[in-house]
This record gives sequence, structure tokens and C-alpha cells, in this order.
Amino acid sequence: MAIPATSLLLIAVATIISTTPYLVQSSTDNNRVFSPCTDTTVQRSDGFTFGIAFTSRTSFFFNGNTSVQLSPCDRRLSLSSNGAQLSVFRPKVDEISLLTVNSSSFQPDSVGGYMVAFAGRKYAARSLPAFVANSTYIVTSFTLVMEFQKGRLQNLYWKRDGCASCSGKSNFVCLNNQDCAIRTNSCKYRGGTVDCSIGIQLAFSGTDKHATVFNSWYEVKNLRQYSLFGLYKNLKDSLTSQYNSFF
Ligand SMILES: *[C@@H]1O[C@H](CO)[C@@H](O)[C@H](O)[C@H]1NC(C)=O
Ligand SMILES: *[C@@H]1O[C@H](CO)[C@@H](O)[C@H](O)[C@H]1NC(C)=O
Ligand SMILES: *[C@@H]1O[C@H](CO)[C@@H](O)[C@H](O)[C@H]1NC(C)=O
Repeated sequence: MAIPATSLLLIAVATIISTTPYLVQSSTDNNRVFSPCTDTTVQRSDGFTFGIAFTSRTSFFFNGNTSVQLSPCDRRLSLSSNGAQLSVFRPKVDEISLLTVNSSSFQPDSVGGYMVAFAGRKYAARSLPAFVANSTYIVTSFTLVMEFQKGRLQNLYWKRDGCASCSGKSNFVCLNNQDCAIRTNSCKYRGGTVDCSIGIQLAFSGTDKHATVFNSWYEVKNLRQYSLFGLYKNLKDSLTSQYNSFF
């Protein structure tokens, strides 16, 4: 594993809320790879480990050259020495999951305000850096699509809705026609009333190693207009009500 995990601070409060926690799963997790910097292939019912690194935007590029974005697993980025923070998640393949990063213990603007989702080593996949927060604004809602082909992760991308979800909502500001942001002075960690924990809705697209098609991205795309938040029943009330106001 290229990331010296011990020198990166893990965000202990990162959690996963799955949409189907109460269904009895007849199948089990057969994926033995638990590091986000190791290659693996998965099938439905496996867990899949990936990471999200938080740091400044330029830290994700080789020598600051914005045409060469490296995986956070790549030692040449030396993320561990610049104070980057790492969250590691293990959602179940092809389930819609909501990942949360609790803002009461971690404020993303304090480490540079951008994040990249990543997994793999030889077949390293990483998303583009997404703006999360600076001292004025914080974006708290994201959708991450993980695209697989025959069970191997090919691509990770942030799906944006062009601020459709926050238009007309007075708490929110639309940044760059793509992100619904909250003013950080409304956040609890700055003395306001809003729980500015980050929620990342996760969906899988493509096929698993047996060429079985993943459905969760299709579900997110088609359910989003209704209310996916009915699915997140065990989310903390504060976050749920905040999300309800999105949809
Ligand atoms: C950035 O990297 C690209 C691709 O390797 C290279 O062509 C370009 O010259 C580099 N730019 C700088 C400023 O180093
Ligand atoms: C974040 O942690 C605080 C303190 O433990 C808790 O009160 C709050 O409900 C948590 N927020 C979420 C969204 O889990
Ligand atoms: C924060 O980000 C927004 C949107 O990109 C930008 O308009 C604003 O100038 C930034 N503020 C600071 C203090 O960097």
C-alpha cells in the first residue's frame, strides 16, 4: 500500500448508511482486499474498499501541474506530509449507500477544502478533485458514481445536478452553476444551527466480474426526482431534515 496509512489521520466518524440494512443477505462478502490502494475485482454482494482524500486542489497534481493528476495512492504526491486527511469506506457493491463525514470533528476547509475519491494501484482510478469547502462556503451533498467493468473499477466521477436541488432554497447558494453550498457561518462548527456534515450518495454502474449489470446508478438517476431520503431511515435527524429540504 503506497499510502503510509499510519501517518495519514483517519477520520474516525466516517460512516456508511446502507439502503438495505434489514434485508437478510443470502450471499456474502468474498472480496479479501481491504486496502483502497490494492487492485481487486468484485461481484454483487461483495464489499468494496475505496478512499476519499481531503486536501488542497493543487496537492492532487504532480508538482502542481494541473495536467497530471495522480492517484492519492501514488507516493509522488506525498499527501501524508502536507496534512491531507483520508477517509476509507467499504460499501456493499451495487447498493445505494449514503456516506457521511461528520463535521463536528473534521472541517474540510482546514486541510485545503477539496476531495478526491480513489481506489486501486496498477489500475488506479480517481475522481477529479471536487470543491468541498473554504472559509465562506461548504458543499454538503455529493453523488459519487463508481463505474465498473467486469468487476474492476474503471472510473469514479461526481455527478452534479446543476443546482436543481437547491434552487429557491434560501439557505443555499449555487456555486459555479454546479454545487449547492451553505455559508459556513450557518454551520454548527462556526456557531450556526446547521449540521454541515458531508453526505456522499454512492451508486454503482457497469458490470461485476460475472458480467451481471449493476442497478444502483439507474435507481439513483430515476429516483432522485422523488425522494431517496426515505431510504436513509437511520440517518441522524439533523442530517435527514437538512436533506429533505434538498428534494
Ligand atoms: C505539465 O505536464 C504536461 C504533460 O506531462 C507537460 O506537457 C507540460 O509541459 C507540463 N507543464 C508544466 C508547466 O510543467
Ligand atoms: C456528528 O457528531 C455529533 C457529536 O457526536 C452528533 O451530535 C451529530 O448528530 C453527528 N452528525 C451526524 C450527521 O451524524
Ligand atoms: C470560496 O469559494 C467560492 C466559490 O468558489 C469563491 O467564490 C470564494 O471567493 C471563495 N472564498 C474564499 C475566501 O476563498
